[in-house]
Amino acid sequence: MPKRKITTEALPEDAALEPGIRPQRLSEYIGQEKVRENLKVYIEAAKRRGDSLDHVLFYGPPGLGKTTLAGIIANEMGTHLKVTSGPAIEKPGEIAAILNNLQPGDILFIDEIHRLNRQVEEVLYPAMEDFAIDIVIGKGATARSIRLDLPHFTLVGATTRPGMLTAPLRDRFGVVSHLEYYTVDELFQIVMRSARLLGVDIDDKGARQLARRSRGTPRLANRLLRRVRDFAEVRFDGKVTEAVATVALDLLDVDQFGLETLDRKILETMLTKFDGGPVGLETLAASLGEDPGTLEDVYEPYLLLNGFINRTPRGRVATRQAAEHLGLPYPGEE
Ligand code: ADE
Repeated sequence: MPKRKITTEALPEDAALEPGIRPQRLSEYIGQEKVRENLKVYIEAAKRRGDSLDHVLFYGPPGLGKTTLAGIIANEMGTHLKVTSGPAIEKPGEIAAILNNLQPGDILFIDEIHRLNRQVEEVLYPAMEDFAIDIVIGKGATARSIRLDLPHFTLVGATTRPGMLTAPLRDRFGVVSHLEYYTVDELFQIVMRSARLLGVDIDDKGARQLARRSRGTPRLANRLLRRVRDFAEVRFDGKVTEAVATVALDLLDVDQFGLETLDRKILETMLTKFDGGPVGLETLAASLGEDPGTLEDVYEPYLLLNGFINRTPRGRVATRQAAEHLGLPYPGEE
């Protein structure tokens, strides 16, 4: 059987697409104030003790900086970052090999950690708690288990679905941090910083327009900045002003609230096909031809935060604000 490559990389994939703009140090990191301040203390304390940092779990919607923070932790601790993900590790032997290759103080980042399978997870328990793995040698009656010591490392887990983590895994993280959507002011600072590093000519109002429409998410803000720059260079004189950003974002189908095509489709479907709800997640997802997990983790949190939908015990309902935003009648009031 051909050997499957076990994926641990020195750098996450999308870092390659953003050379130079991902913050490398806590001091460069904008937003998530509480998380940042706490990490600063834990990192300083671990360094003073000459020990590895306690295991850290980051949870929250995608694009808010979980991978970036793992990289920053490695830089601040002066150690290496190894990156993998829950679905990439299929067998206990694979996680054992990854762990066995770590050096003291290394940061092992496991993205989508809620998708680890049970047997793989069970290797992690003693690894996290005692820095050891138990390896079974032989089969049947002669099988015996030997304990292999590991260097002290830090597991940084990331998940969009903390509720799907098993209790034994969750309990083994010493630090559990919730990442929240960024404010417009924070995104404004991030856009200005990225523009400076990428050499994009942008004014304050242009950056604010981008910040307002980036649905609280730096990854999106940086992506939109690049796209808007393209429009500025090809259709205008190269400078990203409020007018240029507005035209470009309209063409990109990102509206005033940062809603994209699928966000609007979700609201429209709820309002027109389900009378505004309540509608169950599965039913809604089937009607849209989308994965229920993606709807729940990626789209819903922002729509909830901004008051476009509510959750009720009987399902999701679209709000009056959603109807007004789409220019549709609010069910029951036509
Ligand atoms: N780029 C992406 N996220 C960032 C953040 N939180 N601070 C600074 N730059 C960023």
